[in-house]
Amino acid sequence: MFWLKTRIIEGKGSLEALSKEVQGYESVLILASKSMERHGFLKEAEDYIKETGAEVFSIPGVPAEPSVETIEEFLPKVREEFQPDLLVALGGGSVIDTTKALKVFYDAPELSFEEIAFIDRFSRPKPLPKLKTPIIAIPSTSGAGSEVSAAAVLKREGIKYNIVSPEIAPEVAILDPRLPGTMPREVARNSGLDVLVHGIEAYTTKVANPFSDAMAIKAIKTVFGRLPRSVEGDPEARAEVHYAATMAGIAFLNARLGLAHAMSHKAAWIGPHGLLNAIIIPYVMEFNAGKSEYARKRYAEIARELGLKGAQDLIGAVRELNEKLGIPKLSDLVDGETFMTRLDEMAEKAYRDGLIAFNPVEAKPEEIKELYLKAFYGK
Ligand SMILES: [Fe+2]
Repeated sequence: MFWLKTRIIEGKGSLEALSKEVQGYESVLILASKSMERHGFLKEAEDYIKETGAEVFSIPGVPAEPSVETIEEFLPKVREEFQPDLLVALGGGSVIDTTKALKVFYDAPELSFEEIAFIDRFSRPKPLPKLKTPIIAIPSTSGAGSEVSAAAVLKREGIKYNIVSPEIAPEVAILDPRLPGTMPREVARNSGLDVLVHGIEAYTTKVANPFSDAMAIKAIKTVFGRLPRSVEGDPEARAEVHYAATMAGIAFLNARLGLAHAMSHKAAWIGPHGLLNAIIIPYVMEFNAGKSEYARKRYAEIARELGLKGAQDLIGAVRELNEKLGIPKLSDLVDGETFMTRLDEMAEKAYRDGLIAFNPVEAKPEEIKELYLKAFYGK
């Protein structure tokens, strides 16, 4: 089965579509990142909305880590003062995730966080009821895929929880390549490699289908062909990678992700998500290819799409791209002592991550530990 709830509007200057999309709404709340405020895009969005006669409220400077604490801070004002009938998320994956979670608690105040959020694949969260306030997501980075996905990651007291439901998938995504044009080089690189890992993992899960495959392959090809130039700041390449990020998001919305994401989530304290994925993916691919014929076959299919021969060539090409873009090893990001004291806990938690069930091989905690060590030493 393949589904997509989100209507997608793309093109340079497409932020303007807001003036049409907010027609009929009375009160619009924008959650925005600091950088979108600084670059003038928040003001531009507010102006498009004001033109329609709707009231507009903004919460600028939404913190980079979505958390329950942040949402609890916003909620009273949102409920009593703003009372929005439309939410707009303007920023990176974190801003979009914060908006999704805000929608849950705004639309369904009777729900408790414990009932609906979950930590791992052994938890049994309650399904969300119908929620009414629509979301327009306008991503400013090209990676997370949150503008089409049905998931939000949310911290409480430092622990990461997930909320997953079609109810929180945005109604509309606006992909205006001017916004990711503002990304610093490193963000463009890390989030672009996250797109690659989304594509590769979504293509190789146990639930991939021909439609998610099409999205995954196009995203993978785009990253291989265009990411180096996008990192250099080429606007055309940035735009292509921006669209590829959403395609990869559509792929994993349907086909889910695998072991590299399970591992990078639990290592989030070490560095940026996309960077961790880039470091980890070659080892996960070696592991999957070594143990599963299905994985080997799927990697070989991707390889052929790229004009390469087999699974090993693809792994080689991923390593080469990493090298070209200056991707370090884990030991360059974290000191050995700290890493080793947390290693067992990370491996155990990654094993309990929901994505393990979709990976072509169900890795054991011991095997995951070994993969972390390989990524640490870079061999
Ligand atoms: Fe990711």
